[in-house]
Amino acid sequence: MSAPIGVFDSGVGGLTVLAALRAHLPHESFVYLGDTARLPYGTKSPHTVSRYAQQAAQVLVDRGVKLLVIACNTASAVALDDLRQHLSPLPVVGVVEPGAAAACEASSHGRIAVIGTESTIRGRAYERAIARRRPEASVVGRPCPLFVALAEEGWCEGPIPEAVAQRYLGDLRPVPNDPASIDCLVLGCTHFPVLRPALAAVMGPGVALVDSAETTAAAVAHALEGSDLAAPVGATGSVTLLATDGPERFARVGSGFLGLELSPDAVSLVDL
Ligand code: DGL
Repeated sequence: MSAPIGVFDSGVGGLTVLAALRAHLPHESFVYLGDTARLPYGTKSPHTVSRYAQQAAQVLVDRGVKLLVIACNTASAVALDDLRQHLSPLPVVGVVEPGAAAACEASSHGRIAVIGTESTIRGRAYERAIARRRPEASVVGRPCPLFVALAEEGWCEGPIPEAVAQRYLGDLRPVPNDPASIDCLVLGCTHFPVLRPALAAVMGPGVALVDSAETTAAAVAHALEGSDLAAPVGATGSVTLLATDGPERFARVGSGFLGLELSPDAVSLVDL
């Protein structure tokens, strides 16, 4: 019960999920691994993403984690089933199912757009997860790879990210009184929640913006309770941060994603 929860992403984006996990589960300890040396995963083949995900997961398993969170949409979309099979009986939680659940909850008319990396959108994992919950929903997927670089650069609002968002998503902006217009945009990449201001400005108030962070934290809480693995109430949670490259950059860029000032000394370098 006092073992940490393992969380991994291709880089710093998964820190948006870690922030929600910490807020929901303050008694838990976390080990977060950002595979910064090999980011981005989103442009790689499924075979390569699966291999990277297995190696990242193994680092956390070797540290004795009691549950694994794949805080990366690309790795969740591509490698969740393999990881579950390979790591059984360790509970493994991905971010696609929770993100799909949040979308189905938020969308009033079931007209949903999903944005993510090339790999996430190509694999259609969100379409399948949404169809299981709301078979009548229509889902359109749109890869938006440039958003990853903008988010890492901290350009989250203003004319530049809005121009990029307009280029990617302008044709999805709702048309007044058109019942075919989308009413929900799923931020299907862990980098994208920090871009909410620009995305909201381009999509307008009629489109609900949802991401996986909150619903993933709820899914983890549920999995811990279901398996009697929750940390004792009163325990003090801790966070250990690992990266495969550049602790300084991880701390500088990651601070914005976690919503907490990070020092490079708090980030340990690991080799996969
Ligand atoms: N973390 C990845 C995701 O959520 C985005 C960055 C990457 O392409 O590795 O899909």
